[in-house]
Amino acid sequence: MGPLENIDGDRFDASFAETVRDRAIRALEGGKVLFFPRLSFALNADEQGFLDPRCSDGRAKNVSYDPSSQVLKGTALAGPERERLRGMVARFAQSARTLVGGLLPAYEAHVRMGRTSYRPIEVKDRPSSYRKDDSRLHVDAFPSRPNGGGRILRVFSNVNPDRRARLWRIGEPFEACARRFLPAIRPPLPGQGWLLRACRLTRGYRTAYDHYMLALHDAMKADSRYQHQCPQYEVAFPAGTTWMVFTDQVAHAAMAGQYLLEQTFHVPVNTLNDPASAPLSVLEGLLGRPLAAA
Ligand code: SIN
Ligand code: FE
Repeated sequence: MGPLENIDGDRFDASFAETVRDRAIRALEGGKVLFFPRLSFALNADEQGFLDPRCSDGRAKNVSYDPSSQVLKGTALAGPERERLRGMVARFAQSARTLVGGLLPAYEAHVRMGRTSYRPIEVKDRPSSYRKDDSRLHVDAFPSRPNGGGRILRVFSNVNPDRRARLWRIGEPFEACARRFLPAIRPPLPGQGWLLRACRLTRGYRTAYDHYMLALHDAMKADSRYQHQCPQYEVAFPAGTTWMVFTDQVAHAAMAGQYLLEQTFHVPVNTLNDPASAPLSVLEGLLGRPLAAA
């Protein structure tokens, strides 16, 4: 038991046996973290210099890359250095995409790539109003980018050169967490989704689903007693390893570590092997109404 499901393989373009693919999709949708203990993302010799917090522009917490426009943001680097950093992050994006395609072929036709991030700042030094503090257990939900129930799948590689692990805490299952916090969450105000979009506070329509997920994210982070007392595991992801998780479903907190690459994927609920496992289905079941309509 425990929150991790180990998957063997030392290449992002490995071909996985059908039994492994079945085990992976069930574990992932069941709320586990797929852990690849032998899968490292290798930096080229001329990329080692990017293992430096000065890659960041000091304002954004991450360097971020958009694979569709190929634009890199959040870095202080310029000129050829910036291009090389972009090349490294884009290569990670492609590797993560290949891994998802090989391990989860059922998602292949409908998965959409979101942003890629490079996180060169020590977790303990990151800025933290409680809402932004990712060292508090939370499920992911994006205030300005509503997704109407679509899943947030993330692939992470720890590229720390000093053998330092990325330390996480992993919390209780989604339904337990939702049951605990939903009773105190107010429903969205009528017209709220339209207004947020009209005022350009959101990119797209914030559905009732997005409202509840954001409220859940905030309520979890705001509750210090819950942070300490809820059922949880401490997990160390060693340097040179990779992991994959639905971060909208699995309560997680980053406690320590430096130098991480991350790729986000968006997976429609009806693409899942078991759509009933999605936070959308769980919240709809608990609240007794549809939540994803605009
Ligand atoms: C998070 O997704 O909340 C933080 C993960 C990390 O930076 O390790
Ligand atoms: Fe998160």
